[in-house]
Amino acid sequence: MRCSATPDSFTPSDPASLYIGLMSGTSLDGVDGVLLDSPLAGGTPQVRAHAARPFPEGLRAEFLALNTAGADELHRGALASLQLVELYSAVVADLLQSTGLKASAVRAIGAHGQTVRHRPDLGYTVQLGAPALLAERCGIAVVADFRSRDVAAGGQGAPLVPAFHRAVFAQPGADVAVLNLGGFANLSLLFADGRTLGFDTGPGNALLDHWAQRHIGQAFDEGGAWAAGGVVLPELLRALLADPFFARVAPKSTGRDDFHPAWLERHLARLPEPPAPQDVQATLSALTASSVAQALLRAMPQVAQLVICGGGARNADSLRRLQATLPGVACQTSDALGIPADQVEAAAFAWLARQTLLGLPGNLPAVTGAAGPRILGAIYPA
Ligand SMILES: Nc1ncnc2c1ncn2[C@@H]1O[C@H](COP(=O)(O)OP(=O)(O)O)[C@@H](O)[C@H]1O
Ligand SMILES: [Mg+2]
Repeated sequence: MRCSATPDSFTPSDPASLYIGLMSGTSLDGVDGVLLDSPLAGGTPQVRAHAARPFPEGLRAEFLALNTAGADELHRGALASLQLVELYSAVVADLLQSTGLKASAVRAIGAHGQTVRHRPDLGYTVQLGAPALLAERCGIAVVADFRSRDVAAGGQGAPLVPAFHRAVFAQPGADVAVLNLGGFANLSLLFADGRTLGFDTGPGNALLDHWAQRHIGQAFDEGGAWAAGGVVLPELLRALLADPFFARVAPKSTGRDDFHPAWLERHLARLPEPPAPQDVQATLSALTASSVAQALLRAMPQVAQLVICGGGARNADSLRRLQATLPGVACQTSDALGIPADQVEAAAFAWLARQTLLGLPGNLPAVTGAAGPRILGAIYPA
């Protein structure tokens, strides 16, 4: 468990300004939670506390297994949802304890849930979770299932973070891009003229994590040190980048349905000889950097600043490769702008819960391709 709060207690901006966001992404590393202070009167939302808990190994493995077809999925999915609530409520308890707040001080929890299938092409996306149980456990209203309404309106259901990125990272007169390096990577493009675009760019950490687990027995490649010692295989990189997803124009979103270990194995099998595992790690890191850079320069050629968030911001090798492929762009992590990199996504879902409770849309149709702005999610009252 990791936990941090702003020093001493604090006075929220107004009684209705506090929201909790809970994020567990495709990396399957664990749950990040934040307490967000987002005043009704406006102003930049502030993170007041952060807490994180890792997935127990069994639950992590079960969610991974539930990403592909298997026996008795409905029953197993329901049980995994209940276990996820245990973790979610522990993170909520950590946040309340570290801030000294009562549950009644929090207006709502935005709970992302665990994505196990994302098929907007077929009209559905599935985030497991048991929001009714979470509301019951915490005594706080819960907003859940954020993505389905956007998909129902013809959108990709992702990314949903660009509106929040604009609220916290936009700078007057500047074209700013925000990159979230989670299991998969997504860009938000905050144009100086007020337009916002955003889309998934492809793999972020998911394949890197898979390869590190398999070959060095670690959950992830700490700091990207292992990748940094490898040599990029140009032929493999070219073949990976030839996947049609990278050339598709936005709106687009992706996940484990598109980029999975079998996809990588297929490409590896076509190489004339088996590559050194460390060189594959370097190539996967270069894949993330190159696919992000290509997409960014195509959509926002004049970009001057890139803000990086998500756990991948802790991978120095990925950051170095990104900066090398984007020489004219100032790359920095979101830490420098007031929200530590691993707290941004959870903060976004706290903010999206606030949008829902205020009856405001959370999606951006220009980003997701939905027919229009929509109030997202379902509300489970306290
Ligand atoms: N110290 C670190 N060094 C390298 N990679 C890291 C580090 N910390 C986190 N990561 C990467 O970030 C991932 C988690 O990022 P996160 O933003 O939580 O993604 P998701 O939203 O998909 O869960 C880990 O799986 C790992 O790949
Ligand atoms: Mg995570």
